[in-house]
Amino acid sequence: MSRLKRVLIIVTTVVVVIGLALGGGALYLYSDAKVSTAGSTEFGNELTVPPQAPSTVRRDGTRVFRLTMQEGRKEFRAGKSTSTWGFNGDFLGPTLRAERGEKVEVQIRNTLGEESTVHWHGMHLPAAMDGGPHQMVAPGASWTPRWTVNQPAATLWYHPHPHGRTEKHVQRGLAGMFLLDDDRAGRLALPRSYGVDDLPVIVQDVRFKGASFDHGHQLLRDTGFLGDRTMVNGTLDPYKAVGDELVRLRLLNASTARVYDFGFSDGRGFALIGTDGGLLEKPAPADRIQLSPGERAEIVVRMKAGERTVLRSFPHDSYGGGWQARFAGGDDSFDILQLRAAKTLRPSPKLPGVLGDLEVPDGSDSARERSFGLLTTGINGRKMRMDRIDETVVRGTTETWTVRNDHTTPHNFHVHDVQFRILEVDGKEPPPELRGAKDTVFVPPLKTVKLAMRFDGPADPDTPYMYHCHLLYHEDLGMMGQFVVVEKGQRAGKVGARHAHTGH
Ligand code: C2O
Ligand code: CU
Ligand code: CU
Repeated sequence: MSRLKRVLIIVTTVVVVIGLALGGGALYLYSDAKVSTAGSTEFGNELTVPPQAPSTVRRDGTRVFRLTMQEGRKEFRAGKSTSTWGFNGDFLGPTLRAERGEKVEVQIRNTLGEESTVHWHGMHLPAAMDGGPHQMVAPGASWTPRWTVNQPAATLWYHPHPHGRTEKHVQRGLAGMFLLDDDRAGRLALPRSYGVDDLPVIVQDVRFKGASFDHGHQLLRDTGFLGDRTMVNGTLDPYKAVGDELVRLRLLNASTARVYDFGFSDGRGFALIGTDGGLLEKPAPADRIQLSPGERAEIVVRMKAGERTVLRSFPHDSYGGGWQARFAGGDDSFDILQLRAAKTLRPSPKLPGVLGDLEVPDGSDSARERSFGLLTTGINGRKMRMDRIDETVVRGTTETWTVRNDHTTPHNFHVHDVQFRILEVDGKEPPPELRGAKDTVFVPPLKTVKLAMRFDGPADPDTPYMYHCHLLYHEDLGMMGQFVVVEKGQRAGKVGARHAHTGH
């Protein structure tokens, strides 16, 4: 054998062995990446329903809440105490509730060892009250935002928004619901007994390492943290006993990266009655509802006496498939919550055929178009900077925003202060579940969504609102931009100088 031949054989062997090892490793990673708790869940824990936050009403009508950000410990599993963060408790926070037209004030105290913020996701309010990365609350400090609720009844939520650290703060337990009520919704025959036939369902995925949370990102997960099990309102393997024929679930995806495709284990349908910003025009029959991080949906499901059914998250093909789908969780399935109907059920009134009008623009009066290209490395090719205003919007105008996912990584898009109408998904009319008021929209790989929104808040050229990907790892990496609302003819001010040093 010539020397060349021998060398060739050795090289080929080495390449084949490395190839097999890599292939085997990849195969292992690929099959190991799929997670399912569907069909194997015991449902041994009664669902915790977050308490409704107490409030006091001042003489001028202001409703005042208190929220303390604090450290705690919680036994998610018997005998294993996990260290957590929470609002007014060990994990998550109470449900705040206010009426349209009411003045609200929230007295926030940060007793944590690091600075954080509290952002009112979905709320229309002045930029300085928004709780974004420009309203940091130092350890030991307080912050008291005030605003007047002026938007329809809806299921909103609150969570921290410190630039670069939002994922960690939410995962440790800082999140809660903020429910808004109004007269119109109050007159509709909808289930409305909180914790009875109207249930908050805060869904988070989680992984434990011993007694602690394991917040590590696994190999090849370019969307961020994915857990291997789920909990609702901080309860693992939850069940809820219900006593009414119709049960309303207020679904909130408070996970950091996971997209859920909710449905029922027995394939039963339900009525979708609301999206991020409130009620739809009319109930939409559905058997699946997909929620990416930050999105909400209100559904009403019909129960029969004595039966059980499971709210489940199913695999979905919205990531295209293959590796991307597998490593972003598209092949995963979870048993989320079991509903146990009583032997006899209280009859519920029939769902109304009409819920009301949407208060989001249809784009016909748009004064301006903007476009946003999404990449994990930034929006429109730029990483978030605390001291840079990316967009300046004129108060009182409607705009059309076109948002494109330029890559094969899934993203979503959230805009502070406003609710928008989705005009188009890839040039087509959106499906029924995307026809309501929204503040967050899933933007699957290589897809485009067109949104119409109206900026009605007070002008403040010096204080920006955010728009960003709500996959919190991406947001933390800098997939975020800032906009200010100004009066016509006014220019954006200089912002963030004070905070620039905390920017990443
Ligand atoms: Cu739910 Cu900018 O956040
Ligand atoms: Cu928000
Ligand atoms: Cu993203």
